[in-house]
Amino acid sequence: MEKGKGVILLVDDEALIRDYITTYLGERGYIVISCASVAEALSRLNDQVEVVLSDIKMPGESGIDLLDKIHKNMPDVPVILMTAYAEIETAINAIKKGAFDFLLKPFTPDYLLFSVKRAIKHGRFLQMERQYKVMLEETVQKKTKELAEALTMVKKMSVELVQRLTSIAEYRDEDTGAHIKRIGLYSKRIAEELDMPFDFVETISFASPMHDIGKVGIPDKILLKEGPLTREEWEIMKTHTLIGHQIFADSDHPTIQMVASIALTHHERWDGSGYPNGLRGEGIPIEGRIVMLVDQYDALRSVRPYKPPFSHQRAFKIITEGDERTRPEHFDPRILDIFVRIADEFDEIFRTYQD
Ligand code: C2E
Ligand code: SIN
Ligand code: SIN
Ligand code: FE
Repeated sequence: MEKGKGVILLVDDEALIRDYITTYLGERGYIVISCASVAEALSRLNDQVEVVLSDIKMPGESGIDLLDKIHKNMPDVPVILMTAYAEIETAINAIKKGAFDFLLKPFTPDYLLFSVKRAIKHGRFLQMERQYKVMLEETVQKKTKELAEALTMVKKMSVELVQRLTSIAEYRDEDTGAHIKRIGLYSKRIAEELDMPFDFVETISFASPMHDIGKVGIPDKILLKEGPLTREEWEIMKTHTLIGHQIFADSDHPTIQMVASIALTHHERWDGSGYPNGLRGEGIPIEGRIVMLVDQYDALRSVRPYKPPFSHQRAFKIITEGDERTRPEHFDPRILDIFVRIADEFDEIFRTYQD
């Protein structure tokens, strides 16, 4: 149906009035669907209808009943009610129920036209507003999805970058994907058990695998040496902490700041016997104290050019009871307690994540 100036559903039980209005509005370019009862009007109501113009008092259902039904199904369609009875109660009731206008018969054709024009304009405005809202919501949803996708891509890319960077630094030819996952997961568990804030837990999970990035600056003949290091080689090896720190120092980004801090402090010891600065106790950043233990557990379990892999039991014993190189006093006692409590999870993580 061509809408033209507007499609009007007219309901009146009096044929004379129907014909008069249909002719009058028809001559002015409106399409009028003329109905003799509410029942007929409901059967001919469709989504092309822009205004309903209805008498109130009719045999069968009234114009007020029609108003109720239209409001339920097509809330944007304005309803103009007409009555020949100047009952103030009826008029108030109609307006209360949300009639767009109220025409008292006999009304002038001018006023009828004016009211119909206003109703059509109002209805079209509501419809436009609704479409605009839908369009806005779709745009927002689309942008939100695009942002989420971009974020996922950046996150994936960051994880891959860490993996690639770390694999250059560490044993050079070794695939370090699983190693990175493990260091992140052990660190996360310790941080959670320390009740650290959510942000810290997230950050250390991402930052901890980069603790040894400074090994990129250690020559192969030292890094890949199959036996023990000479004093001189050992002095060079220890600089991997300073090199790693230098690579990540002075960032404005909290995550990179944590990478710098961990690179620098992950070989400091609680009793002050660590390197490079011999920091002690809480003078060592918490992230450094966490990674210090986590790194040792994973190194003990792993094969190194200078050592075979050890069992969980042996690694656990070295950390909790000590050996010629490691002492329990090296560890933050709170972190050591947590390790003792959740050591099974460390074993589980180590066995689950293997290249
Ligand atoms: P890494 O191999 O990743 O080892 C990290 C840490 O795990 C070590 O820090 C140490 O605290 C602990 N760890 C590793 N293996 C053992 C072990 O067999 N027994 C005990 N008790 N602890 C162990 P550390 O000592 O500061 O060493 C830092 C890095 O220096 C090591 O990282 C490794 O790259 C290198 N390094 C250490 N010792 C040797 C060695 O004898 N030969 C060679 N080629 N490199 C070594
Ligand atoms: C930091 O935690 O702000 C960085 C510390 C450092 O550069 O070692
Ligand atoms: C914590 O907040 O639980 C640890 C803080 C610290 O030991 O530096
Ligand atoms: Fe290290």
